[in-house]
Amino acid sequence: MYLTKDEERMLNGEMGYAARKSMEILRALGDIYGADLLIKVGSVQVAGVSYHNLGDAGLEFLNELARDGRVKVLTTLNPAGMDLENWQNLGISEDFAAKQNLIIDAFKRMGILISCTCTPYLIGNLPRFGEHVAWSESSAVTFANSVIGARTNREGGPSALAAAFVGKTPRYGLHLDENRVPNVHVKVNASLTKLSDWGALGYVIGKKAENKISYITGIKEAELDELKSFCASVVTYGAQPLFYMQGITPGAENQPLPRESVTVEDRDIKEAYDNINDQVTDIELVCVGCPHCSIKEIAEIAELLKGKEVAEGTEFWVATSRTAKQLADRRGYTETIEQAGAKFACDTCMAVAPLKGRFKSLATTSAKGCFYSRQNKMLTKMGSLRECVEAAVKGQWT
Ligand code: F3S
Repeated sequence: MYLTKDEERMLNGEMGYAARKSMEILRALGDIYGADLLIKVGSVQVAGVSYHNLGDAGLEFLNELARDGRVKVLTTLNPAGMDLENWQNLGISEDFAAKQNLIIDAFKRMGILISCTCTPYLIGNLPRFGEHVAWSESSAVTFANSVIGARTNREGGPSALAAAFVGKTPRYGLHLDENRVPNVHVKVNASLTKLSDWGALGYVIGKKAENKISYITGIKEAELDELKSFCASVVTYGAQPLFYMQGITPGAENQPLPRESVTVEDRDIKEAYDNINDQVTDIELVCVGCPHCSIKEIAEIAELLKGKEVAEGTEFWVATSRTAKQLADRRGYTETIEQAGAKFACDTCMAVAPLKGRFKSLATTSAKGCFYSRQNKMLTKMGSLRECVEAAVKGQWT
């Protein structure tokens, strides 16, 4: 891979430890994937923030980089393992909180915005159409590529950090036109009536498209919350963080319609629910906000919870960004939600908080949430916001 004089100086260690480490990572990646050079990125989004996933080795790695590493572009963070302000309320241990705070301190020293959300595009990290970025959270990567029309590979935590310190990423994969051509036409002939149907649709398309890039037709309209749910699901159950949706993806009309095709019918959506839903009635945790809730979803939850109470023995978490929560505070949604006994889980989510062994069953709106909660040994139910609120109030899925 061609390096400029400055990049070579970084690689030689003339610009400090973090710059050298970063250039080593970027050059190795570039060599593996056949990149010709490094290109500038407009922003970075870093995953691998929870102490639950990083452990002490990860903390040490970050502390080393934080000695002299300072980000060169807008850099935001994925969810951490706890609500940074209100972790006691979520039952997080003091030991875990202490370690998580050390990780956050390291990111702060690097100059990273402590946003802790998987919806960076809702809180100010919003790329332009065609802009190259280096993001790592899979749902956000898919949203950036497919809804915004920006260009990013699915970075790992270290390669995203390296891109942040250098301000560049190797040019390969989804940064190149030739790798962004759709190769399977997905004809959707199913009705989507509630938010969770979009997660089910992502499940079906993820599986049917296998490792191909989908060109999706048949969807007349899609709201932002539906798209973010679909993005999370399609990349969790499939392989590609890029799809084209006719009428939604900017520039979709310039892509060729692939010859190979698959269809999605109502029966596929039903089958997806059958596969995602376990045989369970008693619900110990209801968690909505995967990806993190928008203010619109929080408003809907507040409306549904008005005058109700979360059942004893059940917890109801609303996972969202701190920015959305602050807006909810001002609009009175927080008061309504907390009066009903539900809790905000800002900065974190059901997949990265240390939940294993704490809850046996989960209800959620999110197909991706079910995937990760099963890894945490929970039985799962997926349904609409209304069904989730009902499950929280009754302590049961009916
Ligand atoms: Fe976000 Fe966590 Fe879901 S990172 S997409 S809320 S699993």
